Amino acid sequence: MDQIEEIKAKIDLVQFISGYMPLQKAGRNFKAPCPFHTEKTPSFIVSPERQIWHCFGCQKGGDVFRFLMEYDRMDFGEALRLLAKKTGVVLKSYQPSEDEAQKEKLYQINHLAMEFFHYLLLNHQAAKPALEYILSRGISKDSLKLFKIGYSPHLWDGLQQYLVGKKGYRSPDLEAAGLIIPTSRVSSPASRSQYYDRFRHRLMFPLIDHRGNVRGFAGRVLDPLAKEAKYVNTPETLVYHKSELLYPLDLTKEEIKKENQAVVVEGELDAISSFQIGIKNVVAIKGSALTEAQVKLLKRFTDNLVLALDADIAGDQAVRRGIEIADKEGLNIRVLELEKYKDPDEAAQKEPKYYRDCLKKAVPYYDFLIDSSFKRNAGETPEGKRKIGEELIPPLSRIENEIVKDHYLRKLADKLGVSEEAIGIQIKKYLANQNLVKPALAPEKTNRSREEILEEYLLALCFQSGKIRALSVEENRNLFQLPGYRKMIDLLNPFFEKKFSSAEFAAVLPLELTDLFNNIYLVDLGKNNERIEDEDWLDKEIGQTLQQMKILKIKKDLVSVSEEIKKMEKEDRSGSSDWKEAENRFKNLSEQLASIKEEKSV
Ligand code: CTP
Ligand code: MN
Repeated sequence: MDQIEEIKAKIDLVQFISGYMPLQKAGRNFKAPCPFHTEKTPSFIVSPERQIWHCFGCQKGGDVFRFLMEYDRMDFGEALRLLAKKTGVVLKSYQPSEDEAQKEKLYQINHLAMEFFHYLLLNHQAAKPALEYILSRGISKDSLKLFKIGYSPHLWDGLQQYLVGKKGYRSPDLEAAGLIIPTSRVSSPASRSQYYDRFRHRLMFPLIDHRGNVRGFAGRVLDPLAKEAKYVNTPETLVYHKSELLYPLDLTKEEIKKENQAVVVEGELDAISSFQIGIKNVVAIKGSALTEAQVKLLKRFTDNLVLALDADIAGDQAVRRGIEIADKEGLNIRVLELEKYKDPDEAAQKEPKYYRDCLKKAVPYYDFLIDSSFKRNAGETPEGKRKIGEELIPPLSRIENEIVKDHYLRKLADKLGVSEEAIGIQIKKYLANQNLVKPALAPEKTNRSREEILEEYLLALCFQSGKIRALSVEENRNLFQLPGYRKMIDLLNPFFEKKFSSAEFAAVLPLELTDLFNNIYLVDLGKNNERIEDEDWLDKEIGQTLQQMKILKIKKDLVSVSEEIKKMEKEDRSGSSDWKEAENRFKNLSEQLASIKEEKSV
């Protein structure tokens, strides 16, 4: 057994996936709405027997490694190491890819930089103004430690002295982490060395992903009167992508799950101050637009977002786009308004109770949007009504859920005192202009024949229940048309004598049949899921399915025999021995068909 198999053998896939999302028992299998695409009816299936998962909606699927890779956006090496650690398997010959090794190195470098900055802030004389500043902003000592806040020294090469000088890292790697900048590109007083530190004399917030990797930093200026940018951030690197990070999700994801809600704020200080007053289900984005990557990440932990952004939520296009992405993903969005304060940080520092009350009173986004438009425009004048319509029809017509959409369009008509028809017409005009009228979705077409479906169903009944006896009967075997199934059944011979083990059988299957075999275990028996445990039902169902297959086969044979006969008659060969033989076959088949049908009607 290789190490990958060893790890897989130590993990129960159902239990493992249940740690990430709730699974529902469906017969021998488990089901859930797919975490990898948006859907209402569950098409994500886990087979405990085969230890595999598959989504019939988006066609993703695989083993425990593939699940982690998809779910946590890991590459194979990361998933392997994580699962090896979890199962206590010591990896012998794992060679990370160059990319992975480089990522790992950048995480290490960032981690050390974080420790360095953090140590300085808490211990170094030179960091005193920084420490005083952050404490004066009401950030507690505990928070400094929890969030690993730091201070970057007022030097051109402070970090380099530590990471290159003391720790022996190479400058190009520090540059790749975004921590230092080559001097040649920019003229600076540090002409003697080739690089200078990107972060100097700043409060340092490490930007850590939900798995605890230090991906980058945000450096805040200390002097409120300074001319430089208030924030210097890590640029895009191999490991830092601004559009994907949610700060500090590693510390808040459990709370987000527990509360089933995430409060989305703008910036590190808003997040930390919220956390300090007990609003621990918080994440910060940079800027005001939620990205698709962030929405998808949040969706793993909750369906409910509360936006507490400084931006003008009703007016800002970027904010709206983010909200529409979240809506498409099926998230519920509320808006929190802090009228008395400029941002969550200030509210948390000055009046925690007010902040918490506002959070309780957060209104659904579309109500907020309507209210905001009516506040700004005179809803009783025709001119005002027109403006309100122009503002609200685009976002309301893009609401994903038809019921929700209808609710708000009615609300809008009501508030404007106009008919719903008028709103409907206006929407059509808008959509026509936008060219957004989607072509009707083609009905899902499965090109599989009824034979194929029946064959698969019969095998699913047999294999999923482990009762394969029906497949030992020659007459039944001959009913299978799909070559892959026939091959599979031929290989079953040694297995009729003992209790059927899918693992043993999988081991003797040629590689090209593995997927076909696994798929049989993923077949959803629908309403029959629960009945497969019932042996009487199972026997009857297998019998009936075989009968259906027989009928189909006979009908098919009848068609071809009658064609043969017709052909001979055209060629004036009626009465020949061939013709007689064919006539006989036709008679036989007809009798068989009749007797089956009679059996059925009894
Ligand atoms: N930000 C940034 N670059 C800037 C300004 C802001 O990346 N030049 C990001 C930072 O992540 C910051 C967030 O936007 O945390 C919110 O900015 P702001 O509220 O201006 O930062 P604060 O530090 O909260 O400033 P203030 O003390 O004025 O509240
Ligand atoms: Mn602020």
